[in-house]
Amino acid sequence: MRIDIISGVPELLSGPLDHSIVGRARKANKVDIFVHDLREYSTDKHHKIDDYPFGGGAGMVVSPQPVFECIEKLSAERSYDAVIFPTPDAIVLDQKMVNNISLFENIIILCGHYKGIDQRIRDELVTMEISIGDYVLSGGELPAMVIVDSVVRLLPGVLGDAESALDDSFQDGLLAAPVYTRPAEFRELGIPEVLKSGDHKQIRLWREEKALKLTKERRPDLYRNFIHKK
Ligand code: ADE
Repeated sequence: MRIDIISGVPELLSGPLDHSIVGRARKANKVDIFVHDLREYSTDKHHKIDDYPFGGGAGMVVSPQPVFECIEKLSAERSYDAVIFPTPDAIVLDQKMVNNISLFENIIILCGHYKGIDQRIRDELVTMEISIGDYVLSGGELPAMVIVDSVVRLLPGVLGDAESALDDSFQDGLLAAPVYTRPAEFRELGIPEVLKSGDHKQIRLWREEKALKLTKERRPDLYRNFIHKK
């Protein structure tokens, strides 16, 4: 998979893209990620990428010129399955959407900033709008990193068998069961006996029971869906 990220503040992206699972996946060529500085596409002599909103109002709006030129240049080089724009006024990302995106070959993620982006960009270039939750962040960079992280960990060969994504919360529609590591006794705090038993069937049953209980308590909406699907 190839991911092109367009941002006016590319500095925000270097940490999350260079470390941990995403960083390792890039080094192992399981994913190609390229960051494009929107300012480099601006024809303005000060490399401005935003302007005041028509009709007045607070904040600045990302201008169409640099975004159109950047996306047109990329699209001339290869075809993209999606041009994704993270924005709070969109449907909220869930595991099913993440799974679908992970099947794409090439995607662009366009990070907005300030007050928003010129609507003509959304009308003409963006094919998928995604919110990461009902709260407002100052720009699209952090949501872009949420999308990248959630997608890259699903790509073939990125996670080892031991860290299989199939065990994640949400992959089966339930929250994940609690996990423990050594030592089995820490400050007089033990762990559930069954996990030390070596009885894989009992362990699986224990995890299912915990997952059901947690989901029922914390996410009754998911629990109802799960029960109805069965
Ligand atoms: N940009 C600002 N806030 C956002 C959110 N909640 N989701 C996606 N993009 C955003």
